[in-house]
Amino acid sequence: MQNDLSAFWMPFTANRQFKSAPRMFVSAEDMHYRTSDHKQVLDGTAGLWCCNAGHKRPKITAAIQAQAEELDYAPAFQIGHPKAFELATKLRDMAPEPFEHVFYTNSGSESVETALKMALAYHRARGEGQRTRLIGRERGYHGVNFGGISVGGIPNNRRMFGSLLTGVDHLPSTHLPDQNRFVKGQPEHGAELADELEKIIALHGAETIAAVIVEPVAGSTGVLIPPKGYLERLRKITTKHGILLIFDEVITGFGRLGAPFAADYFGVMPDLITTAKGLTNGVIPMGAVLATGAIHDAFMTGPDHLIELFHGYTYSGNPMASAAGLATLETYEEEKLFERAASLSAYWEKALHSMADLPHVIDIRNIGLIGAIELAPIPGEPTKRAFNAFLKAFEKGVLIRTTGDIIALSPPLIIQESQIDQIVDVLSGIFKELD
Ligand SMILES: Cc1ncc(COP(=O)(O)O)c(C=O)c1O
Repeated sequence: MQNDLSAFWMPFTANRQFKSAPRMFVSAEDMHYRTSDHKQVLDGTAGLWCCNAGHKRPKITAAIQAQAEELDYAPAFQIGHPKAFELATKLRDMAPEPFEHVFYTNSGSESVETALKMALAYHRARGEGQRTRLIGRERGYHGVNFGGISVGGIPNNRRMFGSLLTGVDHLPSTHLPDQNRFVKGQPEHGAELADELEKIIALHGAETIAAVIVEPVAGSTGVLIPPKGYLERLRKITTKHGILLIFDEVITGFGRLGAPFAADYFGVMPDLITTAKGLTNGVIPMGAVLATGAIHDAFMTGPDHLIELFHGYTYSGNPMASAAGLATLETYEEEKLFERAASLSAYWEKALHSMADLPHVIDIRNIGLIGAIELAPIPGEPTKRAFNAFLKAFEKGVLIRTTGDIIALSPPLIIQESQIDQIVDVLSGIFKELD
């Protein structure tokens, strides 16, 4: 039977363009995908920022196979299975010290919803139920569910979907293109943008605000790296006013910056951390919210037989996902992949910034094993130049990702220096060819 492409309404995809010239992956191993027409494509994006250990990793595959034979599914409510507990313990051991508890979800979006609900319920449990406001940030991406798009700040992800959550406000984005251009690592300018939170607090009253949520490094909006001192100031202000700080680490978790979490990398501890993606190397959907002892313990009151938090998913801590998560974290440890990301980051930085003088390139940003190359838009046709670069790179055997006119790169942490060179060579050639 011919493959009919019409039935599948693809997510975040130009469906008509895709279906007129489909790009299909049929297999993958380590750093490469293979297409239906037998081409190798170097993975410059770890899938969607998730396959941090690369593809078809034997330990992860074997763990899933074995788990399917042993226990395929167990109810998630009022019953457990050993691997969910084992993984939670391993995650706790990997996480920075204050994080003692793990709540499972199935995606980054669900982790965000979970963290926002936890923040509201935490204040309520402590007798501060009037703290209902949530503060996000312009250009923030926190998934696609209603809470996430409400605190998120990407207009296209919001404007079609009604009035969203009420009681939400936004910090300004940390992007200062006039002051911070072609910066290596954290920019010098912009820490003071965190002080905008004081203005929001003055406007609404601290006692009405439950939480501030930010990505420590904003990924999906085009890689915006926090100015030096910015996250520290956000932490200081939120602590001062009894407001929870949530780090959305769906991208930055699991070694992307060369440390287990961005909280470790920046040395700033939030109250809740959202994760997904790299938790299972992207192989089986799973997310997790990491909570401090203080947050968890605020719920552990009342009679023992009562449910403490009315929240959870049919697949929270699913056995197959738990097995994949355990094998993934073991792979990261055994292959020292976070350390590897840290040691490769200088080479990565130099390679990316070697493209600074090429045509169309107006900015380059990097941190850990994340990079962004911003192109000047074609006048009157925003996004088209970067999308054309994506199509050309795919043809030349390199997978990149674009958002607006920004190319975002986030390769698996197993990448070799020669493969970094390949990405740069292919992109450099394309920038010279592009209209
Ligand atoms: C920071 C952040 N939060 C949440 C999400 C949503 O994750 P998911 O697509 O698994 O729902 C993403 C996805 O890219 C993300 O980057």
